[in-house]
Amino acid sequence: MDDRSYMERALELARRGTGQASPNPLVGALVVRDGDVIAEGWHERCGAPHAEAMALGKAGDRARGATLYCTLEPCCHNTPGKRTPPCTDAIIRAGVARVVCATLDPNPLVSGGGVKKLEDAGIQVEVGVDAVEARKLNEPFFVWVRERRPFVHMKVAQTMDGRIAAASGDSQWVTGIEARTEVHRLRASCDAVLIGSGTVFSDDPSLTVRHVEGRNPIRVILDSELRTPPEARVVTDGAAPTIIAHAARDAGAADRAAALERPGVETVQLDSYGGIADLSGRDRPARGEPAEEPARFKRVTASAVPAASGMSGSGTGRNAGFSSERPRGAEASRAPESPRAPEPSRTSEPPGEPERPRAARPGLDTGGRVAIEELLDVLGARDITSVLVEGGATVFTSFLAAGCVDRLSVFFAPKVLGAGISAIGDLGARAMSDARELVYSEVRRFGEDLLVTGLFDPDRIYDGLGPVRKVETHVYGTH
Ligand SMILES: NC(=O)c1ccc[n+]([C@@H]2O[C@H](COP(=O)([O-])OP(=O)(O)OC[C@H]3O[C@@H](n4cnc5c(N)ncnc54)[C@H](OP(=O)(O)O)[C@@H]3O)[C@@H](O)[C@H]2O)c1
Repeated sequence: MDDRSYMERALELARRGTGQASPNPLVGALVVRDGDVIAEGWHERCGAPHAEAMALGKAGDRARGATLYCTLEPCCHNTPGKRTPPCTDAIIRAGVARVVCATLDPNPLVSGGGVKKLEDAGIQVEVGVDAVEARKLNEPFFVWVRERRPFVHMKVAQTMDGRIAAASGDSQWVTGIEARTEVHRLRASCDAVLIGSGTVFSDDPSLTVRHVEGRNPIRVILDSELRTPPEARVVTDGAAPTIIAHAARDAGAADRAAALERPGVETVQLDSYGGIADLSGRDRPARGEPAEEPARFKRVTASAVPAASGMSGSGTGRNAGFSSERPRGAEASRAPESPRAPEPSRTSEPPGEPERPRAARPGLDTGGRVAIEELLDVLGARDITSVLVEGGATVFTSFLAAGCVDRLSVFFAPKVLGAGISAIGDLGARAMSDARELVYSEVRRFGEDLLVTGLFDPDRIYDGLGPVRKVETHVYGTH
């Protein structure tokens, strides 16, 4: 076996921590001596030993003179609150002769420091083996550890003609079982999944992980006016925590919040901005108006619930319910104490647009939608490192218009609907040169459906991760 094969095995081990290690990275490690794998390790969950420590612990004295393969640069810091000792110390003590890392750790507390410490101790270090896969594996960590906001992965399932639902709103199912199973795998790997109130009304989804094993992500609902029906599955099924992000400030907001809140369901009031108009273009009631059709839900409106004096609406204050404590007992043992400030390049406007005047561009309405960037900050402060944005059209468009999507994955089903709901609305582009390009794109097949996925701004995510071993660069195709 060569370096690449050992690293592939280390990456397999790293994946075992999926859904458990967050907000820490997924890391795998192997101790190899004379071509034999002596010990394996991985970071099982936040607070558990790091992969390198696990592997070295199993190897004991046999690690002397061996090679250690690890999917991420070993940590070298011992900041207050960190539960595990620096891995570099354990590696030096164990007498390892060579360390092969897939990628550097962008955590400002490590970021090359781990490699330097090992080299200073006379250990031979190589960085960049299987870097492409290792980087993909920890995209959420790389974003969160520097910017303290989650990595945003948008997933769209559409027909060949770009429809995510029929004109009636029916979207079950656009894609086949293989593609839907992959979506469940994505859900299981993300800390949170997010949809808009339109999808709650249309589909009443549970957003849980089925078809594959894995834990259910936290559910986030964008619901400007707090009209989510209290009988919606995401409110009642108790399958995972639900955060209903809203911007309601009317007299009845506190009562509607109280009707939704229960253990595991929290309403959070955020700022609003003049967002994207409702793109479904059909049977949803206008904002603030009752539904005409008594579908599964009776739409709760701002005017439908009388304001009760004296209701404080405990969950509706700005960032109410959010604390600096980690909700899942999480400890970011590789996390910096003072993360890098968000980069100014993150714009909330599509290219070429000046200010965001309300109702000044096509697709904007005058009503206040939940401010996406503020929401991401709030989620990041809760150690939510990744969000899978699952729709619908209005939410897709809002996230893209705000420049808040890191990875876009579109499943194409070989079907044509003609009329229906378009996946993405007006983003202000008027010429091909205005289109935003995805890079490092990949195509995969799931049954009859195709998945095309790519990153909008890889430099931002991959900056500071060190070299990629030359032979591997072809994986990214022509980019
Ligand atoms: N094929 C797919 O991939 C897929 C996935 C999901 C859904 N769908 C389909 O898409 C349709 C629903 O799409 P939709 O456009 O009607 O609804 P949607 O995107 O699910 O929800 C949009 C609503 O979310 C609320 N919202 C709050 N803050 C927002 C913000 N910052 N940006 C955008 N929305 C915000 C707004 O309602 P308020 O302001 O009134 O709160 C807005 O009208 C359904 O037919 C569903 O089946 C398809």
